[in-house]
Amino acid sequence: MELSSDRVLLWLFDVEKHQSPAEQLANELSPGEQTRARAFLQDQDRLAFLLGRGALRRLLSRCAPSVGEIGTLVTGPWGKPSLDTGAGHSPGVEFNISHSGGLVLLAATWGTPVGIDLEVPRPGVELQEILERFFSRGEVAEWHRLPPGLRSDGFYSLWTRKEAVVKALGRGLSLPLDSFQVTLDPREPCRLILAPPGTPPAEHWTVRDLTGDLPGCLGVQASPAFAALALPGSPFQYEYRPAEELLA
Ligand SMILES: CC(C)(COP(=O)(O)OP(=O)(O)OC[C@H]1O[C@@H](n2cnc3c(N)ncnc32)[C@H](O)[C@@H]1OP(=O)(O)O)[C@@H](O)C(=O)NCCC(=O)NCCS
Repeated sequence: MELSSDRVLLWLFDVEKHQSPAEQLANELSPGEQTRARAFLQDQDRLAFLLGRGALRRLLSRCAPSVGEIGTLVTGPWGKPSLDTGAGHSPGVEFNISHSGGLVLLAATWGTPVGIDLEVPRPGVELQEILERFFSRGEVAEWHRLPPGLRSDGFYSLWTRKEAVVKALGRGLSLPLDSFQVTLDPREPCRLILAPPGTPPAEHWTVRDLTGDLPGCLGVQASPAFAALALPGSPFQYEYRPAEELLA
């Protein structure tokens, strides 16, 4: 399997459908990951973790011919896992995982860090309160301009796009969410308006909304989740690969 710098490969897993392969992947995880897997209280969370990390490990092992010796996964200062070849830096394989509500998304590319986020909306979330507390003034204003029927979709579009940017940088919530700005109207193309401080200018980032792709991948009518992908680099293609490719 070839990774290239102009393309992000994506795999979408469904815990319910892929329960049996998920259990088998447990044997391929590191001892630390196996310990983490056993600590989950909810079975759905445990299976999602197994699918994400297990599929990732299979992917990395298959990339071995092109990246040389595959080392171990290391955790960045804010929790982002990356590949350590022993020399202390990544050979160029970049990846990110997101899980929510029984779905798992894995993204991989070459050379530029990638961030991905998937969110299944939960009932009882105080959208306006969260927006006003965490997001930028421009985003809050744009959200208020949306027709009321689109405000929930706008909120989750914004959330996943911002979280994808934060995850590309590996910063987690140490990066203030009001320090950069993305568009949120679900009817319009997704765009980074203001880049996070100390990163390439907004026009050099690529942020893509993946929400519209999910029904097709899952064989359902309406999207059960929102998802977005971000990369501090020039426009790139993305391609969904069959889940079985990493589970069989
Ligand atoms: C940890 C965080 C990076 C993402 O958390 P999340 O959205 O709850 O979880 P996701 O499933 O999308 O991502 C978790 C995965 O991302 C990876 N990850 C962990 N820390 C990361 C970091 N700092 N940067 C990028 N990726 C990270 C890991 O692979 C992790 O899964 P794994 O440990 O099972 O392999 C962090 O941003 C966070 O705590 N977010 C809270 C969510 C929130 O309140 N968002 C506000 C709206 S933007």
